[in-house]
Amino acid sequence: MAPTRPYYAEKGLSAAFYDTVTAADRRLEGDVDVYARLAPQGGSILELGVGTGRLAFALAEKGLHVTGVDIAPAMLAQAQAKLADFPSHIAGRVELKRGDMTAITLGKTFDLVICPYFTLAHVPRGMAWKNTFETAAKHLKPGSLAAFHLPLTEIMQMPGPADLSLPVLDEPTPSGGRLQLFVLEREYREEVGRLDQVIEYVELDARGGVLRRSAERLTYYMTEPDPLAESSGLKRDREPIPLGGVGEIHVFAKA
Ligand SMILES: C[S@@+](CC[C@H](N)C(=O)[O-])C[C@H]1O[C@@H](n2cnc3c(N)ncnc32)[C@H](O)[C@@H]1O
Repeated sequence: MAPTRPYYAEKGLSAAFYDTVTAADRRLEGDVDVYARLAPQGGSILELGVGTGRLAFALAEKGLHVTGVDIAPAMLAQAQAKLADFPSHIAGRVELKRGDMTAITLGKTFDLVICPYFTLAHVPRGMAWKNTFETAAKHLKPGSLAAFHLPLTEIMQMPGPADLSLPVLDEPTPSGGRLQLFVLEREYREEVGRLDQVIEYVELDARGGVLRRSAERLTYYMTEPDPLAESSGLKRDREPIPLGGVGEIHVFAKA
C-alpha cells in the first residue's frame, strides 16, 4: 500500500485540485447565497477554514468583507495567488491569515462567522469543537450569527463504493488532462462518530498516462453541535438549512 499523506498537505493533490473538485461538486451549490443572506449588506465575515478562497472571493464580489483563516499553507497559497486575479476593489475586501481556528484571537469582531464545507468536522469532536465555537463567539458582536456546515451522520455512515476500481470522480483538469478520484478505504466508527477515508487522486495527461498520484487521508468527526455551541455562548437561531442532500448549515446567534 502506497504511503498516505493528510488532506491539504504540501505537494498533495487534494490541495492542488481543490478548486477542480469543488467546482464539480453540485452538493455545494447555493452555499455562497446562504452565507451572503446571513450577513448584513456590506458587512464583515470571518471565515474559519478559508481554503483556496472559493467562498471568500464570491462573497467579496457581493460586497462583503471577508477575513479568512486557514491552517494549511498549501490551501492559503492558492487563495493568496487569487488576490491578483480580482479587481483591486474586490481583492481589497479579502484578508487572509494563517491560523488554527481552535485557537486564534484576532482582536476584533465581525458581523458573521462562517465555518463552511464540513470544516468543523475536520477537527476532533469535544474540546476542538468547543474551542472553535469559542473562537466564533469571541469574534462576534452580540446578536450576530455563526454558521457551521456539517455533514449528515447518515451520509457518513454510508459504505464506500462497491467497485473500488471505478473512480468516484473523473473531471477534466485545467491543463487538458483528467483528474480521477478513487476511494481506497472508508470506515465509519459509530461509537466515536468518526469517518476515516483514504482517497487516491490520480492526475492523467491528455493521452491517459499517469502524471501524479497521491493517496490522502481524510477524517471527519461528528457529534451533536448544540451543547458545545451553547457552552460557548452561542444559541441555535433557526432550523438547520439543508444543502445538497449531504449536509446542513447550523446557524447560531451570539447571546
Ligand atoms: C473543505 S475545506 C473548506 C474550504 C473553504 N471554506 C470552502 O468552503 O471551499 C476545509 C479547510 O479547513 C482547513 N482547516 C482544517 N482544520 C483547520 C483548523 N484547525 N484551523 C483552520 N483551518 C483548518 C483546511 O486546511 C481546509 O482548507
